[in-house]
Amino acid sequence: MSPDRVGGATELDPDERVGLRFKHVTTRAQLDHLEQANIQAALQWLARLKIDDILTEQFIRELHRKLLGQVWGWAGAFRQSEKNIGVDPLQIPVQLRLLLDDVRYWVDHATYCPLECAVRFHHRLVFIHLFANGNGRHARIMADQLLSRVFAEPPIDWAGGADLQAMGARRSSYLEALRRADRGDYQPLLNFVARRGNGLPARE
Ligand SMILES: Nc1ncnc2c1ncn2[C@@H]1O[C@H](COP(=O)(O)OP(=O)(O)O)[C@@H](O)[C@H]1O
Ligand SMILES: [Mg+2]
Repeated sequence: MSPDRVGGATELDPDERVGLRFKHVTTRAQLDHLEQANIQAALQWLARLKIDDILTEQFIRELHRKLLGQVWGWAGAFRQSEKNIGVDPLQIPVQLRLLLDDVRYWVDHATYCPLECAVRFHHRLVFIHLFANGNGRHARIMADQLLSRVFAEPPIDWAGGADLQAMGARRSSYLEALRRADRGDYQPLLNFVARRGNGLPARE
């Protein structure tokens, strides 16, 4: 995410505009607005969707395409270039397959409680970083889909009353918790999701 995100009026760089379906968009604030509208429409689609199995590459890509496909031409397509977060782009399909196999195993063997399963799934998705953008938002929705459709549990209160996309204390602690999870320590991320209305007592 650009450090200018908070500014909103920041002009987009030419390389940030690749695949943008709205040629009149010039600022980050306009882009945020369009993405948010697309995501709202996709969430309505998702709420009505009947689907047996969400743990497939096909659904994961379809969800991303629905979330951002009105704004970005590359929505739903795996990332082709290196980023400072994420695996080598050539590794994305195989890393996703391994992750989906792991999650299926965790579910079948009750390896973790539903919330920990969702948190680990979320972190591994953002760690792979499947797409050029929108990974955080997509992977938070995927974790919630796992909770609701596989475990019949309520979704995570990610934002906890704040706007998680905007910079703020809650986003900072979310990102710090992900960095700890990168090093194998999931406790901060578990504390983060447990804080409000997520069914577990917070361990501060
Ligand atoms: N160190 C990290 N390890 C794993 N995931 C991270 C790390 N830092 C950031 N992320 C994830 O990447 C997301 C940002 O990627 P991006 O594709 O821009 O998603 P979005 O556009 O939805 O914010 C963050 O929301 C977070 O979920
Ligand atoms: Mg982003």
